[in-house]
Amino acid sequence: MKAVVYDTYGPPEVLHLEEMERPVPKQDEVLVKIHAATVNRLDVHTREANRKGGLFVQIVSRLVSGFRRPRQRILGSEFAGEVVEAGAAVREFAVGDRVFGNTGLGFGTHAEFVCVREGGRIAHMPAGSSFEHASAITDGALNALWLLKLADVHKGQKLLVYGASGSIGSSGVQLAKHFGTDVTGVTSTKNLELVRSIGADRVIDYSREDFTKNGETYDAIFDAVGKHSFERCKGSLKTGGKYLATDGFTNVVLGQWTKRFGDKRVVFELPPRYTKQNVIFLKELMEGGEFKPVIDRCYPMQEVVEAARYVETERKTGNVVLTITAG
Ligand SMILES: NC(=O)c1ccc[n+]([C@@H]2O[C@H](COP(=O)([O-])OP(=O)(O)OC[C@H]3O[C@@H](n4cnc5c(N)ncnc54)[C@H](OP(=O)(O)O)[C@@H]3O)[C@@H](O)[C@H]2O)c1
Repeated sequence: MKAVVYDTYGPPEVLHLEEMERPVPKQDEVLVKIHAATVNRLDVHTREANRKGGLFVQIVSRLVSGFRRPRQRILGSEFAGEVVEAGAAVREFAVGDRVFGNTGLGFGTHAEFVCVREGGRIAHMPAGSSFEHASAITDGALNALWLLKLADVHKGQKLLVYGASGSIGSSGVQLAKHFGTDVTGVTSTKNLELVRSIGADRVIDYSREDFTKNGETYDAIFDAVGKHSFERCKGSLKTGGKYLATDGFTNVVLGQWTKRFGDKRVVFELPPRYTKQNVIFLKELMEGGEFKPVIDRCYPMQEVVEAARYVETERKTGNVVLTITAG
């Protein structure tokens, strides 16, 4: 099979196409012929060994992915495709089923085929969905779902999503609306209409207005792009309010500290926990018309370097899809 591989940590140019052995499913696995995957920030961070995260984060990153060189040569965590083989113990899926899901740190989806455990984060594709849309359901949305639940965001609350146009942000807006909250989305001028269209009750253009200075307060502030801080958001949180972080070791420490001290909290833990149930929940939400992943661009597999360069700009709107069609 064809796969996008890398053998050394570095810039997008370390990625290249290679012919590899097709994986063979174990008893409890299915072999998925991939039609679409995404290139996301997890791929970028892992490929660079988190070089922007500071020495401690870089060391942890290399301990997880391989110290000198990547152990898993194929990146990509999201996928949508078709089951072409099922292990003897598999009950839920059969050959020909259209499936989607997320392999997390197991990666391997920037390839024509991947093996996925039946009990892993895999489900039947939402009815009526394209492979491209199904491939982009689980990155930002699993992260947003996990954080919104961890923070117990619920009906009647006022939530602000900072960076509402990213993969996590655009999912956060839609999921928070599903949970019955009043949502303010903060984004740049070019994305105001998009953020309104996915359900935000009001939008703030960060290039014209600083939400921390307008006197409004929220039950929760979801920093969906890791560009803000608890310190700067504190004044805009109600008593008992929560700052939901997506990034940063400091936020892990602050999360533990503010659990015990103070009247406002940071909500963030590592590693995030995603389940198969979460994937099924998103599928049902999509079928019910309450969630749709935002897709910015699609690149063919051969243009993975361009796709990765674009994701690295940190300016993508929603998700970037890699289309993969096996011969
Ligand atoms: N996705 C993952 O797999 C993953 C995994 C672990 C951690 N994270 C972390 O989670 C955070 C978000 O990830 P993501 O994949 O959702 O990001 P993303 O999709 O790459 O975010 C891109 C969006 O961020 C907005 N943005 C960029 N700079 C901004 C700023 N200064 N203020 C407000 N908005 C800004 C851009 O909108 P404008 O152009 O309109 O500004 C763009 O639409 C990142 O910190 C990432 O490291 C992500």
